[in-house]
Amino acid sequence: MSEPTAATSDPPVPATVARARWRDLWGVARMQRRAFRPGLAYNFSALVFLWLLPTVTFLVARDGRTGEVRGCCIADRQGGSVRIVNIAVDPVARRRGIATALLRAVTAALPADEIELIVEEHNEGAQTLYTREGFVRTGFARDYYGTGRHGIWMRRRRPTPGAAPRRTIDV
Ligand SMILES: CC(C)(COP(=O)(O)OP(=O)(O)OC[C@H]1O[C@@H](n2cnc3c(N)ncnc32)[C@H](O)[C@@H]1OP(=O)(O)O)[C@@H](O)C(=O)NCCC(=O)NCCS
Repeated sequence: MSEPTAATSDPPVPATVARARWRDLWGVARMQRRAFRPGLAYNFSALVFLWLLPTVTFLVARDGRTGEVRGCCIADRQGGSVRIVNIAVDPVARRRGIATALLRAVTAALPADEIELIVEEHNEGAQTLYTREGFVRTGFARDYYGTGRHGIWMRRRRPTPGAAPRRTIDV
């Protein structure tokens, strides 16, 4: 598996982003349990269901040396818009640009005018990531994650064609 190439002077992404293979799904399920609090992680059956759906693009980030799954991004395309259903990075691999690379890979892979997602109100780290990637807040979903756990809808218009990615990825 090749190491990704840095496009600029930014540090290289320590993982390769690619479409999920069947054999990745066990690793994704384990990573989900590490990444989310109980109740929010997708289990293996749900991951298989999503992986099989023709409207879904399922990407993983694999460790460049070991091949272990370090992150995933699952996006569902409905007509002209794309919804990010799930994005997660293993706690041992955070703040190295993996989620950024996954988001950019989904954008590159899916020709859609708009991408939307929902994020928990108090998940400020994820909101900072999305804002940095051009998402803006578009709505509020009361109790979306359970009583008292509200969601924030965020949306991004497709970036202008030709805008240079900050990091090179391999999908
Ligand atoms: C949110 C998450 C996907 C980010 O993954 P990541 O690979 O660490 O993100 P990146 O390294 O690409 O972060 C890019 C930028 O986003 C912001 N960011 C990401 N995580 C952050 C955090 N915990 N706190 C503050 N800013 C954060 C920073 O600006 C960061 O750039 P920097 O590291 O140069 O400061 C990861 O923390 C995660 O899996 N969390 C648990 C699951 C989850 O909340 N998923 C989102 C559900 S909507």
